[in-house]
Amino acid sequence: MDLYGALRPLIFRLDPEAAHNLAFWLGERACAWPRLSSPEHRATLRRQVLGLDFPTPLGLAAGLDKGATLLPLWQSLGFGHVEIGTVTPRPQPGNPRPRLFRFPEAGLILNRMGFNSEGAEVVAARLKRRPAGLLVGGNLGKNKETPEAQALNDYRAAYRLIAPEVDYIALNVSSPNTPGLRNLQAPEALKPLLAGMLALRQELGLEGQPLLLKLAPDLAPEDLDAIVEVAVASGISGLIATNTTLDRGVVAEPLRACVESKGAGGLSGEPLKAKARDVRRRILYALAGRLPLVACGGLGSPEDVQGALDDGAALAQIYSALIFKGPGLVDRIHRGIA
Ligand SMILES: Cc1cc2nc3c(=O)[nH]c(=O)nc-3n(C[C@H](O)[C@H](O)[C@H](O)COP(=O)(O)O)c2cc1C
Repeated sequence: MDLYGALRPLIFRLDPEAAHNLAFWLGERACAWPRLSSPEHRATLRRQVLGLDFPTPLGLAAGLDKGATLLPLWQSLGFGHVEIGTVTPRPQPGNPRPRLFRFPEAGLILNRMGFNSEGAEVVAARLKRRPAGLLVGGNLGKNKETPEAQALNDYRAAYRLIAPEVDYIALNVSSPNTPGLRNLQAPEALKPLLAGMLALRQELGLEGQPLLLKLAPDLAPEDLDAIVEVAVASGISGLIATNTTLDRGVVAEPLRACVESKGAGGLSGEPLKAKARDVRRRILYALAGRLPLVACGGLGSPEDVQGALDDGAALAQIYSALIFKGPGLVDRIHRGIA
């Protein structure tokens, strides 16, 4: 059994957010991280996507390192890219606790963190000291108190600070934990949002920097088709699918009742796998190669990641499986897909 396997029962006895904070506390205090991954598998994994040179197609999904505090650790684990955030323009505490629940027997996480964020200024300052050789994406959102109609102002404010420090930007319009956020996925809301962001990108001289849009898995197939057309017509660079799901139907009884008893939030991990895959396949079909897609949602093995790449995704991201299977998963996936 590996070290994580040995520690797992202990870690999973802690309150989920306490475990997260402890891991980050320890991680930030380690001065240097040895290379924990095996680079020999990696020559064959390299790929050009979005005009960037990705050392591997596997990245860390948004939400784990919201403030870009542990970039050297993610690099040492072998991730090719890390999506930091979601970052909101102004600091905000997120939802009251408890807001994070793990169900290890199902490989499932329920969260309603609600964009706890130190704010774009603090995160941008930290990014100035980011390690070389790791691609970093900045995932942006709006503050909770900002009315939906003014969402563009928030995304623009965060973009001004974060974009100059990262390799790509992802607009998060798909978190279920900020009221009204997902309404921004509707074509009539999406068009001005994307146009406004692309105009700002040009104004800042960042035309060469990829701008992506992260989507929810809870969209009807026709809505996905419409969103794809808006995205392609807008001139953005790519899509990320998917964020967490609100659909409790992805969890089988008797666990479903237990999950429902914990209240609101988005589900991720193994139970999201099939739903996220179906949504991605629909998007890939509609895209017909016009934009690259980053696969996310329920990926937890080399087979899952290879499956997503075989379906046509350009890159893949993981979050929940890393929590349940431990840091050795990154290397296992690389070995499997090499
Ligand atoms: C605790 C938690 C917090 C998250 N926070 C964010 C976030 O701030 N922004 C975002 O775009 N996605 C966030 N996500 C969603 C993940 O990036 C990912 O889309 C989702 O978990 C599906 O992938 P997975 O099944 O591999 O976990 C979060 C997920 C979890 C579990």
